[in-house]
Order: sequence, then structure tokens, then C-alpha cells
Amino acid sequence: MIEINGLTKNFTVKDKNGHKAVKTAVDNLNLTVNNGELFGLLGPNGAGKTTLVGMLVGLLRPTAGKILYNGQNLAQHERDVKKIIGIVPQHINFDQDLTVWENMELHGRLHHMPEKQRRERIEELLDYVGLSERRNDNIKALSGGLKRRLLIVRALMHKPQVLFLDEPTVALDPQVRRRIWDLIRVLHKDGVTIVLTTHYIEEAEALCGRVAIMDSGRLVTTGTPEALCRNLGSYAAEWDGENGRQYRFFADMDEAQNFAAVRNGALTRRTNLEDVFIELTGKAMK
Ligand SMILES: Nc1ncnc2c1ncn2[C@@H]1O[C@H](COP(=O)(O)OP(=O)(O)OP(=O)(O)O)[C@@H](O)[C@H]1O
Ligand SMILES: [Mg+2]
Repeated sequence: MIEINGLTKNFTVKDKNGHKAVKTAVDNLNLTVNNGELFGLLGPNGAGKTTLVGMLVGLLRPTAGKILYNGQNLAQHERDVKKIIGIVPQHINFDQDLTVWENMELHGRLHHMPEKQRRERIEELLDYVGLSERRNDNIKALSGGLKRRLLIVRALMHKPQVLFLDEPTVALDPQVRRRIWDLIRVLHKDGVTIVLTTHYIEEAEALCGRVAIMDSGRLVTTGTPEALCRNLGSYAAEWDGENGRQYRFFADMDEAQNFAAVRNGALTRRTNLEDVFIELTGKAMK
């Protein structure tokens, strides 16, 4: 279980006049992720997702607050905690001059894996994502989709119990995205606790058992996608009004359809997490 209490991160930045200013990237955040969950952190650009993940994996020091892994404080047990976590960073960070195999090997060494175990695990993981044939290729020769796949299996080298995936499918075509979703589902089934950040609504809805919606460093709401939509009304009617697109939410489909029937051009559909975000923050996701 990951318990996050009052977590805050301030950065010192320069404002447009060159004066120092404080930017609060994560603002007094409280959250619990249970073992085995596939948990989504959803929010627009700049919401604070990557900063939060950075603190959860011990790459960024919190300004305030604490993080407990199964009751152990990360600040005091960083080495123990780092052994059980895997990180798939938002920005691809392979050593560009090394081959596929060498990059995996490097990671295994960093985690003090014995040679035989390293070799077997690399074989197994490359095979798993269809990269066995590319083992001796330079990283530069891989497509974006293949790099993303390799980034995920690299994080799995040391069999982490908790995996952080920061925007794992950014800029990928729908087909590759779906393959990565399948991979994430398999890991979830195997019992790995997964924290996934995304600004793709459909990714969070397709994968996550529970999501937290973030905006401007704060937690807007937490819950299962179904419950968050249900709280708003599971069915939406939308139409062009005088002040742009208008939305109304209803508990049942008939109500939504009856409402839409008397409004020109109105359509009805299921409520989604984007509606939840817009209703709670008063602004669009993107
Ligand atoms: N090292 C830093 N120094 C100064 N400001 C930072 C730093 N890192 C992040 N920020 C600021 O903190 C805020 C949150 O950034 P963060 O990268 O955590 O957001 P994000 O939700 O991951 O966004 P994205 O969807 O674009 O990846 C942004 O306003 C960003 O500019
Ligand atoms: Mg980010």
C-alpha cells in the first residue's frame, strides 16, 4: 500500500521580470493506492502528475508531507523501497549509443542482478514484447512504439512489485497503444501494483480500476471511473446552445433521451471522465 500524506512540492522559478517566485507543482496531496491496484493519475498538462511520480519514486525530494510504502517511510527506507519499484519515465531515457540488449543489461547491473539471472530475464522480456530479433540493434534504430515497449520491460527487469508508468502511450498510434494496454493488463493480472499517469481519458477508462483527477497540483476527486460518472449522472445530453456547447447529465438513459428529443440537434451518450473533469474544474482537459 502506498500512503501519501500532505505531499507538497514547490519549485523556485523566475517570473517574467526575472524575480524569484514559488511554483507549487503538487499541493498538499493525500492519496492511498492499494496493493494490486491499477491506479490512474489523470490531469491536463502541468497538473503535477510527473512531479508527484518523481516524489513517489524518490527522484524528487518533497517540500512537505510523507510517503509510506507498506508502512515504511520512503525518506528513511529509500534503498529498500527502490528495490520494489519500477519506473517507466515520461521521456525516453535510454543510452542512445548502446544496443537494446546492452540497455537492458545496464539496468540489471544497476539492480545488482547476477549475470545468469540477468541474461535469462532479458531473453524472457525481449521475447515477451517481440524484440528478441532486435537485441543487437542500436536503440536509435527502433521506432517510437518499440522504444516505449522496451522502456516498459526495462522497468520490469528486477520484478518490481510496484510499477510507475508516466504517459506510457504518448504519441503512439492506436494499434501500438492497444498492445501496450494489453501488456499493462497482463502485469496487473500478475499482481503488480500499477500507478499510471495519462492525459488520455480513454486510456484511464480502459485500464484503471480507480483514478485520481489532478489539476494545478491538487486532487480534484478520486474514485472508480464508473462511480465518478454515476455521481454526475451516467448519461449525458449535449447540444449547441447560445453560449457554446451545453451539457446536462441524467441518472437514466430515458430521461436523457426525453430531454434531447425536444432540443434541436441534441445527442445523448454515456458520461465520461472528461465530463467529470470539466464539471469539477470548469475547464477543458486539453
Ligand atoms: N524542475 C522544475 N522546475 C520548475 N517548475 C517545474 C519543474 N518541474 C515541473 N515544474 C512545473 O510544475 C508544474 C507541474 O509539472 P508536471 O511536469 O509535474 O506536470 P504533468 O501533469 O506531468 O504535465 P504533462 O501532462 O505535461 O506531463 C508545471 O507547471 C511545471 O512547469
Ligand atoms: Mg508529465
